[in-house]
Amino acid sequence: MNMYNIISKTKKRIELEKDEIFWLINSYVEGKVPDYQMSAWLMAVCFNSLTQKETLYLTQAMRDSGEKLDMSCIDGITADKHSTGGVGDKTTLIVAPVAAACGVKMPKMSGRGLGHTGGTIDKLESIPGFNPCIDYSTFTDIVNKTGFAIVSQSGNLVPADKKIYALRDTTATVDSIPLICSSIMSKKLALGADCIILDVKSGSGAFMKNEQDARSLASEMVSIAKLAGKKCRALITDMDEPLGSCIGNSLEITEAVEILRGRQKGRLYDLCIELAANVIDTVLCTGLDAARTAAKTSIENSSALEIFIKTLKLQGGDVSFIDDYNIINRAAQKYEVISENSGYISHIDSELIGLSCVELGAGRKVKESSIDSTAGIVINKHKGDFVESGDVIMTLYTSSQCDLSKIAEMALSAVSFSKEQICAGSIVLDIVQ
Ligand code: URA
Repeated sequence: MNMYNIISKTKKRIELEKDEIFWLINSYVEGKVPDYQMSAWLMAVCFNSLTQKETLYLTQAMRDSGEKLDMSCIDGITADKHSTGGVGDKTTLIVAPVAAACGVKMPKMSGRGLGHTGGTIDKLESIPGFNPCIDYSTFTDIVNKTGFAIVSQSGNLVPADKKIYALRDTTATVDSIPLICSSIMSKKLALGADCIILDVKSGSGAFMKNEQDARSLASEMVSIAKLAGKKCRALITDMDEPLGSCIGNSLEITEAVEILRGRQKGRLYDLCIELAANVIDTVLCTGLDAARTAAKTSIENSSALEIFIKTLKLQGGDVSFIDDYNIINRAAQKYEVISENSGYISHIDSELIGLSCVELGAGRKVKESSIDSTAGIVINKHKGDFVESGDVIMTLYTSSQCDLSKIAEMALSAVSFSKEQICAGSIVLDIVQ
């Protein structure tokens, strides 16, 4: 087997055999295929795509490139939930304790922020003492005790994805459906949960900028999961404006607590209930209506919040911030962004808001950057709201050295206005199963 022939076959849209794909992935991980040949193949995939069979073999080859976890020591059926990445997306922090309160076991492996999108592990690390690097037996013990635990991705899990993702990031080969599908699903399959619920984002803050592409990605991921023997559903959800009111690590933790306390309703709450209901129904076969009721009840009776607090404590977190948000939301500077326009907000470009947060220090510009956990943006006016000139439209927070007026300009340029009243639309656009 040789790499030249493999590149050439994909360039001519000739389907690769299973052993060719396994050879390609193993050889690349072992350093026997150089980056320039891998890049050429990835670009051929971007232009010509892969067949479903090829995508399945690619996912399996990547899954098998490293360690695989065994969840059989967890009592009951396990579920995993994954989002394709968004701005202000703190749904894992809410869905996991809600589903756990309803009887589902959720061993959750999460990532850090990527580009303009945030990561659950960065958010959790704004809680003093929280440890996302617990070992496998502590992880599964906590899941057995409370119903969920969240760890960061282990070094040995799917090394092929780590190497290929870094290459894709620098060779403009990220936005390919078979490549995104194999990258995400190889990690989900290596974690080994029985059921997988996917939140495929569509819109300005997502990798898939339109609903049609989001639908194709969702169908491909659900098919691959089923071919690999998993129960799987994908919700296609709107990421055309940031999710909730807070973007930034500690700010998002406190917003998640507000939702778990039942004090905040709206699009973020609605999405969390739908995701949790789909997790509960997939695992426990309750029917979606009963699952929605159970999810809402777990918030109303505080059982989800209690589980959230228990898990944080077991992972070393100091939970005193639950009663005093200032313990973690202690940014040195605050800057109010004032609207010069009046009218209805017709659109908030999530990607620009995400990038403004990175400028404030909430995300990384390079892999080695450290995070300012206090940095971020609170959206004071949402899509559909009427704004008068002079109203505070957003508030910026940071403890880092940055040019706040310049960042305010950038964040403000994300907002479009209309004279007509705008309807925000549904957060869940479709379900693929
Ligand atoms: N998230 C991933 O893990 N991989 C991708 O390719 C895109 C989003």
